[in-house]
Amino acid sequence: LVLILDFGGQYSQLIARRVREANIYCEIVPYDYPVEKIKEKAPKGIIFSGGPASVYAEDAPRCSKEVFELNIPILGICYGGQLMAQSFEGKVSRAEEREYGKAELEIINDTGVFKNIDDNISCWMSHTDFIEQIPEGFEITAKTDSCPVAAMKNQEKKLYAVQFHPEVEHTQKGKDMIKNFLYEVCNITPDWNMGDFAEETIQKIREEIGDKKAICALSGGVDSSVAAVLVHKAIGSNLTCIFVDHGLLRKNEADQVEGIFKEKFNMNLIRVDAKDRFLSKLKGVTDPEKKRKIIGEEFIRVFEEEKAKLGEIDYLVQGTIYPDVIESGTDKASVIKSHHNVGGLPEDVDFEIIEPLRQLFKDEVRKVGKELNIPNQIVYRQPFPGPGLAIRVLGEITEEKLEIVREADWIFREEIKKAGLNDKIWQYFAALPDIKSVGVMGDERTYCYTIALRAVTSTDGMTADWARIPFDVLEKISNRIVNNVEHVNRVVYDITSKPPATIEWE
Ligand code: XMP
Repeated sequence: LVLILDFGGQYSQLIARRVREANIYCEIVPYDYPVEKIKEKAPKGIIFSGGPASVYAEDAPRCSKEVFELNIPILGICYGGQLMAQSFEGKVSRAEEREYGKAELEIINDTGVFKNIDDNISCWMSHTDFIEQIPEGFEITAKTDSCPVAAMKNQEKKLYAVQFHPEVEHTQKGKDMIKNFLYEVCNITPDWNMGDFAEETIQKIREEIGDKKAICALSGGVDSSVAAVLVHKAIGSNLTCIFVDHGLLRKNEADQVEGIFKEKFNMNLIRVDAKDRFLSKLKGVTDPEKKRKIIGEEFIRVFEEEKAKLGEIDYLVQGTIYPDVIESGTDKASVIKSHHNVGGLPEDVDFEIIEPLRQLFKDEVRKVGKELNIPNQIVYRQPFPGPGLAIRVLGEITEEKLEIVREADWIFREEIKKAGLNDKIWQYFAALPDIKSVGVMGDERTYCYTIALRAVTSTDGMTADWARIPFDVLEKISNRIVNNVEHVNRVVYDITSKPPATIEWE
């Protein structure tokens, strides 16, 4: 076990991720986690995260000095390193300007954290304070042009500090530095993996829920699916999943979800056919924001009604993952949370919330999903908005329009897969703009809908570029759509990036 003491840094979860990537189990705890408890947990290494404070501030977060006396190796990152320096009476000072961004790292002592790390690599800095003078017993192990102590160590006491952030991608060999600390300094054998995460989580959930009852709103997306399967493995039929079919899903999707969770996993799944309810609420509505709001509210209503039918329920399972979590995650965070996962659940819930994936990143959730034998179509499902096709049918939603967009989308997805492009494009779908145009089919004039194809590359959906799908693939898709989807006589391809456009059309 490695403990990460969280001093409020924005990268604490990223540090945890790096430790997991090194196949070592870790837990994030608040910076003031009691020494007694640390002793009980007996970690083989401790990492101090960065943090926004200055070590000289009156209310600066500090851990007990005793933590340094436990004879457990410590790696202090940024603020964590400054705190180490200050605790041993080194000098931390405020720089004139905040240093932010890349810097060339000159390694002075290539043992410990820097074993087998090339000299003159770039590292990522983000700080205002810096260690001006190292404490007695320490030596400087790296510097940069502007930072005299980019790293220091006290080998005897196994205390290591870095001013830069080895956990971020921009620090070259940063992952190796963390591995060096874990493998070389702490001497930990890397024998933990995501399968262990699944088992441990199932065990913890079982202990927490006991023989009480839980429900989960299952959407068929990877996060809620993995969360539901974990809880199901822990408590079996005491978990009920509610799958609200709002009639705004893609072709075959609802049946697929039902098939997988009911048949393959033998889960207690209630599929609520709420199509008519949603469509009647959406009748005549054209404003995108209104559509979203109606769907969100109706979703809650359906969910609450189904829940009421089930009697006493103590827990609500949510597939919240780390990027959904706004505030910094500490062990406090996993107890009760107010944050909602997308899909919008009630503000004041009268049950406790279980969020087994709260500390994981998307690709880690996928790994857990694979460990749990969840089919690829769920584990690698592309992002799909909560309001579903309602925001891909522009203007008023009708069943006919939904059917058109569903068919076109299906063809698009089939052809992308056939062309072997599905794992190269982040998200791709068909949208139905609210326009009709003139065409000619046979000798007849047509006046039909246009389908817009949207395909983007992205890493997180925040920014995106339009995917360069080869023309011959686009041609095939266009032909198939106009020939097979009724009421469509034109196909266009969206070639705008985000920004200035968004990925979805509404
Ligand atoms: P935009 O259109 O804002 O979309 O560029 C960015 C990403 O978010 C997805 N999206 C949603 N996901 N609920 C969700 O769960 C929503 O209401 C929603 N709206 C957009 C979108 O599909 C894209 O991946």
